[in-house]
Amino acid sequence: MVLSSNDKTNVKNVFAKIGGHAEEYGGETLERMFATYPQTKTYFPHFDLAHGSAQVKAHGKKVAGALVEAANHIDDIAGALSKLSDLHAQKLRVDPVNFKLLGQCFLVVVAIHHPSVLTPEVHASLDKFLCAVGTVLTAKYR
Ligand code: HEM
Repeated sequence: MVLSSNDKTNVKNVFAKIGGHAEEYGGETLERMFATYPQTKTYFPHFDLAHGSAQVKAHGKKVAGALVEAANHIDDIAGALSKLSDLHAQKLRVDPVNFKLLGQCFLVVVAIHHPSVLTPEVHASLDKFLCAVGTVLTAKYR
């Protein structure tokens, strides 16, 4: 998935507008993913997944942090997320289909909180970015 320079600008703008809310949106994204796609819960048997769970919030913070990191290094997402890529592919072995589900949920969360930011063009750029992140995190499966 190749991001054009326009896509990169759009993605950076989205994260600039989200600002300090990113961490909170990470938790909301996970909560939405677990509710909408319950099969994703199977990777978190060790977590309390109840509504408002502190564990989910803390994990959402980490996921959002990784997305911010990827946006900050948008020309080298593979380098920026290299360790996470090892973790997801070699240790966690999350089925790649799940990355699309998480990406969808993040888009919905952004749409809910910032409807005016998510023009169709920005939506497309953010979708491409999330696909690129998913591709990186599933690149080392063998
Ligand atoms: C762990 C990011 C997608 C399952 C993590 C961590 C981060 C992260 C930052 C913490 C790593 C650490 O503690 O060193 C992301 C990003 C994703 C993504 C940016 C996609 C945009 C997924 C998906 C699943 C998943 C789709 C499964 C449905 C897990 C699990 C852990 C983890 C089970 C370990 C949790 C724990 O025991 O603390 N991920 N992740 N991830 N991720 Fe992902």
